[in-house]
Amino acid sequence: MADKATLEFNGQKIEFPLIKGTEDEIGIDIKSLRSATGGAITIDPGFKNTGACESGITYLDGEQGILRYRGYAIEELAEKADFLEVAYLLIYGDLPNQEQLDKFNADITSHAVVDDDVKKILDAFPKSAHPMGVLSSLTSALTAFNPSSVDASSKEAMYNSTVRILGKFPVLVAWTMRKKQGLPLDYGDTSLGYVENLLKMMFKKPNEEYVHNPIIVNALDKLLILHADHEQNCSTSTVRIVGSSYAGLFASLSAGISALWGPLHGGANQAVIEMLEGIMADGGDTKKYMAKAKDKNDPFRLMGFGHRVYKNFDPRARIIKSAADEVLNDLGIEDPILEIAKGLEKEALRDEYFVERRLYPNVDFYSGIIYRAMGIPIEMFTVMFAMGRLPGWIAQWKEMRHRKEPIGRPRQIYIGENYRAFKSISERS
Ligand code: SDX
Repeated sequence: MADKATLEFNGQKIEFPLIKGTEDEIGIDIKSLRSATGGAITIDPGFKNTGACESGITYLDGEQGILRYRGYAIEELAEKADFLEVAYLLIYGDLPNQEQLDKFNADITSHAVVDDDVKKILDAFPKSAHPMGVLSSLTSALTAFNPSSVDASSKEAMYNSTVRILGKFPVLVAWTMRKKQGLPLDYGDTSLGYVENLLKMMFKKPNEEYVHNPIIVNALDKLLILHADHEQNCSTSTVRIVGSSYAGLFASLSAGISALWGPLHGGANQAVIEMLEGIMADGGDTKKYMAKAKDKNDPFRLMGFGHRVYKNFDPRARIIKSAADEVLNDLGIEDPILEIAKGLEKEALRDEYFVERRLYPNVDFYSGIIYRAMGIPIEMFTVMFAMGRLPGWIAQWKEMRHRKEPIGRPRQIYIGENYRAFKSISERS
């Protein structure tokens, strides 16, 4: 294969070096484009063909439906690892040995409290506030209570910020849910595992003993692993670009939470259930909604379907779909929504519009069904996505800072007014 790309431009041939990744992906290095062409740039709305960085964290193959964290297959990690092990793997590059995992867990646990004044910020929100807006605000506010978290200049400083946010984030997730429910804020019990304690903080009733359900603990642990990273998606790109200005880690994560909130991104898991409930309320007429999804004049999209990268099955959707069956069966829950989801999937997978555009169920299509079965309120679904994605965001932010990447500042092609002289108000029509 050639080692360069040649562009013919204005009668000149300009060569650009190629970058080849460890999985043989090819990038055309256009760092010299503007100077070589006298100012021309590329245009690529949504960055569908543009690489923002080189990264060693997650590998996706959208054609083959492959997803690996630091080289490990998602199917194996979901089956054999737990969430904290995967968090360590994403952030530090290798699966931890027992000593490393114990220290990581102990350091995270030592930070699993939040300054009491944060409760005053939480109290200021109306109960009607969407949990993603609350979580984004509280995460950004943590900078004020942990000013050293802005420092990423040393391994130690970066480690301290990492274990701080991994310790505090589950508390914020639980408090965000309990605020809406008017329940007292719970700190759980740090002698429990990371996911067990998160569930206890979320669900413990003030007047009852909390009884763990291992089915729910295991299912949530698996869901968090499946959401832990996904290379340069919208929210991760947001975390990286905010961090590239040397804003602190917590402020960058807060921006990522806001990006994830959108229904085209992480907010889709809530939108899927709302869509399925709407279809059920409308008599279960999936054909009507398929027609709406295909109608260019109708803004309705089949939520949970399609993906920028996966043009085959999202491997996470496969795992979550079978987990949904297992969890509902183990919990003895009959959820008609699951049957509607399966019917919709079956129809879409044989519908020309969807087949032609290679639209398959993505990670969000089935995850909400499991969250519902766990008793998690629908507005908390995207918060659970953020909880899962936290280690991936940290890993990507850390990589961007340690590779000393330049501040993110895209160019544009101006299409506005040409120069025009100022007019006094009396001259204006
Ligand atoms: C996540 O990037 C990541 O990695 C994200 C994520 C992660 O882990 O971080 O995987 C998590 O965000 C998953 C995606 C969740 N979003 C949804 O389920 C919302 C529904 N999906 C779509 O909005 C859409 O598929 C996107 C946003 C996911 C992808 O959009 P693209 O890549 O910009 O594709 P597109 O909008 O250009 O669509 C291509 C065609 C268009 O039709 P034509 O103009 O070619 O005729 O497919 C159509 C679209 O109209 N299309 C859909 C559709 N998705 C795309 N039509 C109906 N229903 C849909 N869901």
